[in-house]
Amino acid sequence: MIDKINSLKKEKNAIILVHNYQRSEVYEIADALGDSLGLAKKAVDTDAKIIVFCGVDFMAESAKILNPDKKVLHPEKLSECPMANMVIVDQVMEMKKKYPEAAVVSYVNSTADVKAVSDICCTSANAVKVVSSLSHKEIIFVPDKNLGNYVQSQLPDKKIITLDGHCYVHDKVLVGDVKRAKELHPQAKVMVHPECKMDVIKEADAVCSTGQMITYVKGSSDKEFIAVTECGMANMLKREFPDKEFYAVGGTCIQMKKITLEKIYDCLLNEKNPISVDPSIAEKAKKALNAMLEVS
Ligand code: 13P
Ligand code: SF4
Repeated sequence: MIDKINSLKKEKNAIILVHNYQRSEVYEIADALGDSLGLAKKAVDTDAKIIVFCGVDFMAESAKILNPDKKVLHPEKLSECPMANMVIVDQVMEMKKKYPEAAVVSYVNSTADVKAVSDICCTSANAVKVVSSLSHKEIIFVPDKNLGNYVQSQLPDKKIITLDGHCYVHDKVLVGDVKRAKELHPQAKVMVHPECKMDVIKEADAVCSTGQMITYVKGSSDKEFIAVTECGMANMLKREFPDKEFYAVGGTCIQMKKITLEKIYDCLLNEKNPISVDPSIAEKAKKALNAMLEVS
């Protein structure tokens, strides 16, 4: 299947972008592997005619918004991030009325409609940088409450206003889970994704997006690491650094794992599930995404 996908890719001038939480066999057909920010940048840089996006829906949608003239295919329509639907435009508009001086920052894990009413987007890799780049004191930050709280902890001069969105995988991690892993592996450095709750984040040696975890390990002489995030990340880290040990704290994102090699092959062969975004929404959402890319 890997050989078949690789030759089809060449035949069709396609590239395959793969998020770090995908199944490990999907890594083998990736032209680029990374976090939300890294993959959005790759989507902008490519000359390929077709982009196959192996990640959840908002990632493929962002790639399409940034590349309106390219065909962006999503191998599994049902690979949807539940957090992205935890805030709707009406809620953002209500908050804007309540806080007229505030800027709206939407985490990329959001719908195109929400991005379209935002001043700027951010990812977990650049949320603090994006918010600190704004002159506004008040920031409406949606949908991830935990990431918003983390940004607040780093930028005490800002007022971060959040709603109740969260990631079911990261929000479920308990501080006791991390403490137990530390007891079992006292030499290990702890990396925590900022979608976790603040008490979990406080246990971290490094707060990292998934891509930043790779950079952190690369720059460290330590041999053992606890990765507090979706459990597939530990596989990715082991693949990159076979001589180091990784311990996963965190559950599975079942939506990410819905994509399989068979579905990717079928999707590319039949050019199935092309992403389309209403052009009037896409145009506004693109401004918010580009504003983020300029800051990053
Ligand atoms: P990253 O951008 O850190 O890869 O995070 C995406 C995501 O969905 C985390 O749950
Ligand atoms: Fe969404 Fe959480 Fe899955 Fe990331 S891990 S895609 S935030 S549900």
